[in-house]
Amino acid sequence: MEVLPGEKIAEGKTKEILTVKNPESLPAGDREYVLLQSKDRITANNAQRVNDMEGKGALATSTTVAIFELLNDCGVKTHFVQRHTDTSLVSVKCAMVPIEFVTRRVATGSFLKRNQGVKEGHRFAPPLLEYFFKDDEAGDPQWSYQQIVAAAMDCGGVVIKEHHLDEMSRMTVTVFEILERAWASLGCTLVDMKIEFGVNPVNGEILLADVIDNDSWRLWPSGDRRLQMDKQVYRDLREVTVEAMQEIRKNYAWVAEKASHLSSKPWGRVVIFMGSASDKDHCDKIAKVLRELKIPVTFHVCSAHKSTPMSLGVLHEIEAEAVPTVIIAVAGRSNGLGPVLAGNTVLPVINCPPMSSQWGEADVWSSLRMPSGLGCTTAIQPDTAALNAATILSLNDHMLWGRMRGRQLNTYVGLIHANQKINQ
Ligand SMILES: Nc1ncnc2c1ncn2[C@@H]1O[C@H](COP(=O)(O)OP(=O)(O)OP(=O)(O)O)[C@@H](O)[C@H]1O
Ligand SMILES: [Mg+2]
Repeated sequence: MEVLPGEKIAEGKTKEILTVKNPESLPAGDREYVLLQSKDRITANNAQRVNDMEGKGALATSTTVAIFELLNDCGVKTHFVQRHTDTSLVSVKCAMVPIEFVTRRVATGSFLKRNQGVKEGHRFAPPLLEYFFKDDEAGDPQWSYQQIVAAAMDCGGVVIKEHHLDEMSRMTVTVFEILERAWASLGCTLVDMKIEFGVNPVNGEILLADVIDNDSWRLWPSGDRRLQMDKQVYRDLREVTVEAMQEIRKNYAWVAEKASHLSSKPWGRVVIFMGSASDKDHCDKIAKVLRELKIPVTFHVCSAHKSTPMSLGVLHEIEAEAVPTVIIAVAGRSNGLGPVLAGNTVLPVINCPPMSSQWGEADVWSSLRMPSGLGCTTAIQPDTAALNAATILSLNDHMLWGRMRGRQLNTYVGLIHANQKINQ
């Protein structure tokens, strides 16, 4: 069913917020929906400079949709639901937290003015996090962590406390890291970025909200500031001319097009060898974690001891396909499988022997103690083996890296919530 726009409930410099007339067209849950409608408008320096730019609403929407789809895929909790039209998207209605969360990898711009002596190009590791209170009249002043906590802001019935700020702060840095890697895959340096959060008033959940588009960051192809593609070009204009605006529009189109290629398909795969079909349950536990991370996984039953030619035949086929592959070898009792495969390939091999309660401690030595010249490793828990394989593949797969970073984020946030609950 088509989502229909309702009445306008808010309007800012670059967007209008509309209700959804027929929420029954969207999934039911602890949430209400709004439409974010982008305007063909570009502004800078707290709207001291404002211009209309044809097509900007559509380009901003394309970029935001690509970025939020990527972040949703990585497990980051966001307000984004789906694209609606060329210039609008459906999102979860939020009570916005009036703070701009800024992350910086490279020192430039206003940071240098506020921190005299720091050289342009200084790299922050981890990325530096700064907070700015959204107050147009006061020019969005920088706030400290303590000021935000002291303000005890009520957002949709949730008073923002230290643990909320910890959650949003960790989310901010994670979002930056995920997008930084994604842009790096296209040869672009994400220099810094601004994001905003909201509270879903129905369930109190904190969501990454607003938009992330070419107004939100500094983006330098090849790490070269002279090639900057973001809104900074507009801020820096001495005079706004028709030609200059055409160049800026081209930049926005370039970024929107590139952003649509950030979410890439899986780069590699995992092949699980099992010595016997009776090991299938153990293999399924490994595969479950791999599939959660969207890693393609295939199974083979072959015994290094009893069907040696077949084991090597499958190995040769895998090598012939030239798909980056991590092998996980699952064999109980005496594990010949992992070591034999490792001795005949340079693909990474991880042993994950199913451990019997009676003989496990003795059997595990057949996976741990290797003949010389073999580099296979051993993980005795299925999730450990899966995650180890994932870390190897993530070296060259920014989407997988992002999903793993997203998992770590959600574990961290889950612990914050558990700690809150236990002290209630
Ligand atoms: N999911 C959401 N639910 C409700 N409001 C939202 C959501 N996402 C963003 N908004 C709000 O939409 C409003 C309009 O956006 P816009 O960016 O145009 O405002 P603005 O002029 O930049 O003002 P502001 O300084 O508040 O951002 C903003 O106040 C923004 O916080
Ligand atoms: Mg805004």
